[in-house]
Amino acid sequence: MNKIPDGTTVELTGTFDGHVHLRQKKTGLLELTLPDLLDEFGGALIMCNTEPPITSIRLGLDYRAEVLSELPAGAEFDALFTYYLTDEAKADEIVEGYRRRIWRACKYMPNNGSTNTARALTRFRNGYPIYERMEEEDIPLLLHAETVGDRIDPFDAPRVFISEEMPELRKRFPKLRVCLEHITDGTAADYMAEAERNNEPTWATLTPQHFVYSRNRIFQRGSVREGTFRRGSNPSFVCWPLLQREEPHRQKLLQQVAGGNNRIGLGTDRAPHDFDKAKACEDGCGGCYPGRLALAIYAMGFEAIGSFEHFQNFACRNIPCGLYRLPPGKKKIRLTKCAARPSTMPEKIGEVVPILHGEKIPWREEAVC
Ligand code: NCD
Ligand code: ZN
Ligand code: ZN
Repeated sequence: MNKIPDGTTVELTGTFDGHVHLRQKKTGLLELTLPDLLDEFGGALIMCNTEPPITSIRLGLDYRAEVLSELPAGAEFDALFTYYLTDEAKADEIVEGYRRRIWRACKYMPNNGSTNTARALTRFRNGYPIYERMEEEDIPLLLHAETVGDRIDPFDAPRVFISEEMPELRKRFPKLRVCLEHITDGTAADYMAEAERNNEPTWATLTPQHFVYSRNRIFQRGSVREGTFRRGSNPSFVCWPLLQREEPHRQKLLQQVAGGNNRIGLGTDRAPHDFDKAKACEDGCGGCYPGRLALAIYAMGFEAIGSFEHFQNFACRNIPCGLYRLPPGKKKIRLTKCAARPSTMPEKIGEVVPILHGEKIPWREEAVC
């Protein structure tokens, strides 16, 4: 790792989280985790795999009201929402909701591939008539780009999706704005390199866990505190799509970020779950939670690749201004390298166990007014 001296600072202006799960009041997770998001980010794209999922204008309005009612008075936060694609999706309603800004994008999730996906499209290609209309109306399509099933190795699922679905999608809908959410592997990195070369309207979000860690972390018990290594399973690092091996996958992602690919940007995929009831159990869910130290984790990643010059665009521009065409945001965060007095990730946040729980992160964060 490139070590930079304590006291080095990085300032980010317009921090935006391009992929978050806020859940609902009834789960207790919305109130618990929203403050963490507000601490670090001035805006976010909020996912729609609620219960029930956001499949109509009425549900979209209700969910938006629910989230906005939890924002503290006077909070300056740009909350953007999404629509959940099902086999029954109605193009006219999608277009109307988009024009009314109830949602800013539609989300494809593989059926039974992640949390609350029982109602999701049963085949990606069933959505073609909808994607056609979305292309006409210039509505972004966000992809949980995995093909899942009991005959597919879960580590291969993103590669199967990208190689089997993306060429045809692009052939049919060349102008459709697309975002490959939470990219993990070399196939996605290669795809994004090509997308940049060809000026294709495809973007990608990258989570802190996929940026900084390889799949080894899923098989290290508990947390790794200094000098300890214990083999075992670590549900806090289980995220769909799974973290991948270092070579070539994570390394290829890092190359794209280090090269300043302007279509790849920040999306934490913060996906809180009650640890005992929903993660560390049979039928456990995927989903990682970075607490209020997401930017500090990304800073470790930028430090490792020595590319701080790309951090600002990655965290504040590529997704909000590039993909969603928002004006630059205002939220300012200063990160300071501080190995002597590191931040510590809490062991627990309510019933949620964050990634790196109990571990030290050698960066400190503060809001700058
Ligand atoms: C997310 C969740 O729990 O909502 N889980 C995950 O493993 N990433 C859903 C998602 O983004 O697929
Ligand atoms: Zn997903
Ligand atoms: Zn997600």
